[in-house]
Amino acid sequence: MVALSKDMKEILAKNKVMPMATASKSGVPNVAPMASIKLVGDDTVWIMDNYMVKTLANLKENPVVALYFYDPDSKRCFQLKGSTEIKTSGPDYEEFRDQVRTKGHKYPAKSLIVIKITDVFECTPGIEAGKKVL
Ligand SMILES: Cc1cc2nc3c(=O)[nH]c(=O)nc-3n(C[C@H](O)[C@H](O)[C@H](O)COP(=O)(O)O)c2cc1C
Repeated sequence: MVALSKDMKEILAKNKVMPMATASKSGVPNVAPMASIKLVGDDTVWIMDNYMVKTLANLKENPVVALYFYDPDSKRCFQLKGSTEIKTSGPDYEEFRDQVRTKGHKYPAKSLIVIKITDVFECTPGIEAGKKVL
């Protein structure tokens, strides 16, 4: 089981926007910025689908995702890979929908993307770059 360390969680929390990479079943890549992000426990990230188009289409046919987060002060960088589930109802969806809407009622909060982290890699420049750490 993958559990992010305290350092990793602190760096993730500093990133207000994260690039979310997906791919279609045939392998066409897509990356889009995401800000409605919540770390849940040590191994799960929630992202709200407000305006996803290709991202959502990709997840429906190929439910995997990659993200990275970076700390400009320490230069530490981590890549996450995960498997996803799309929720449009239920307590998790409702909890995050309500949190997102406190930031602005304009957000449609259409579905919750639950990312279960499966792998973590270093992306800090240097000899450890690319190494699988979790
Ligand atoms: C700073 C920033 C933050 C964003 N955050 C989100 C988000 O949390 N959820 C979302 O659905 N869209 C978000 N968007 C909008 C998507 O990135 C945008 O709609 C993108 O085009 C998605 O399209 P695609 O899925 O076809 O790539 C954000 C855009 C920006 C610029």
